[in-house]
Amino acid sequence: MTFDFTTTLDRRHYPSTKWHRYDEDVLPLWVADMDFAVPQVIQEALAARIAHPVFGYGHAPTSLRETLCHWSHEHYALDIEPDWQQWVPGVVPALHVASMALTEPGEGVLTITPIYPPFLHVAENTGRKTQRAAMRPPTEDDPCWRLDFDAIEAAITPGTRLLLWCHPHNPTGRVFDDEELKHLADIIERHDLWVCSDELHCDLILDHQRPHRPLIQREPRLAARTITLWAPSKTFNVAGLTSACAVIPDAKLRARFKKATLGLMPSDNVLGLAASEAAYSGGEPWRQALLAQLRDNVTMIERFVARWPGVVFAPPEATYLAWLDLRETDMAKANPDVSPQQLLLEQARVALSDGADFGWPGFVRLNFGTESSRLEAALERMDRVLNAGSPP
Ligand SMILES: Cc1ncc(COP(=O)(O)O)c(C=O)c1O
Repeated sequence: MTFDFTTTLDRRHYPSTKWHRYDEDVLPLWVADMDFAVPQVIQEALAARIAHPVFGYGHAPTSLRETLCHWSHEHYALDIEPDWQQWVPGVVPALHVASMALTEPGEGVLTITPIYPPFLHVAENTGRKTQRAAMRPPTEDDPCWRLDFDAIEAAITPGTRLLLWCHPHNPTGRVFDDEELKHLADIIERHDLWVCSDELHCDLILDHQRPHRPLIQREPRLAARTITLWAPSKTFNVAGLTSACAVIPDAKLRARFKKATLGLMPSDNVLGLAASEAAYSGGEPWRQALLAQLRDNVTMIERFVARWPGVVFAPPEATYLAWLDLRETDMAKANPDVSPQQLLLEQARVALSDGADFGWPGFVRLNFGTESSRLEAALERMDRVLNAGSPP
């Protein structure tokens, strides 16, 4: 089977967050959606659903629930039950619901930075206290982002109740290994924390050596205190169809989560449900082709970054996001009061995400979920700024 990851689609044709924020001459590689057409199986499922022209309230059908059970078993050796699944209109809403369901006003919600920005606002948005622990950036001896367990222990207070955990990790692309998960689980148990494990990027593994292990698969002792969040939205590029799933094995925890959604969550998006079932039942060949394309894109980024003095980059083990440390570039050093994101926007006309929003100023996040021709055009623009010394 062949799939098309090269055709350029005009995304300005419809309102697109990614494509309408910046001027038309800017290449947008920021917010995490991809520029690829969704797989044919999803297009067909949506067309079939639209052919029945009634769009009243819907709910996740048994067939979808069973499809996700099968996906979980096949890909992650994790057996889940259909009734553990609480379908929700998004992962970020679920993070907020978890905070409201599991903590009291003023209690601590811990997150590990750098982190996908909404994590940093969940506590404040729900009247709780934000607590942060920083990761350890790559060094010459260890070119990998690492959890800093001392920092995690130091950030935890008696008021800490909930860990918002992101695995695989946005923005570093880390897929945490068994040892790291075990160490983390020890801390979680010792401090009696709830966990909301955002595993949205788990189907986007780039490094064959780093299979994703759901937190509760690797550490079943955490199952009764963990809400796992999955969705087809990143992998199959259907974020605008707002469908995600909270997998909650423990019945009491499930009831608590469900209660907190009442009156706040709309009923399930009927098109999102159709797309989700098509993705999990028929999207695998497309996903494999996507991963090959994304791996090629990482290789291209590595080729360019090798030419950019002062840029530190640990290739992601998962996701379509590249997290670049630009603090030591001439560009950043010459303009200490302006963020590298803003400098690249002005000087290269490439829009990236600003590391400051992830809790780490001086970094940028580049979304490489796009055609290689567009990625190359953006990297060439950045090359003219970051590699000003030596011509290509
Ligand atoms: C780790 C992570 N969680 C959640 C989201 C957003 O999920 P949703 O659109 O379902 O709220 C993103 C989007 O990029 C993400 O990277």
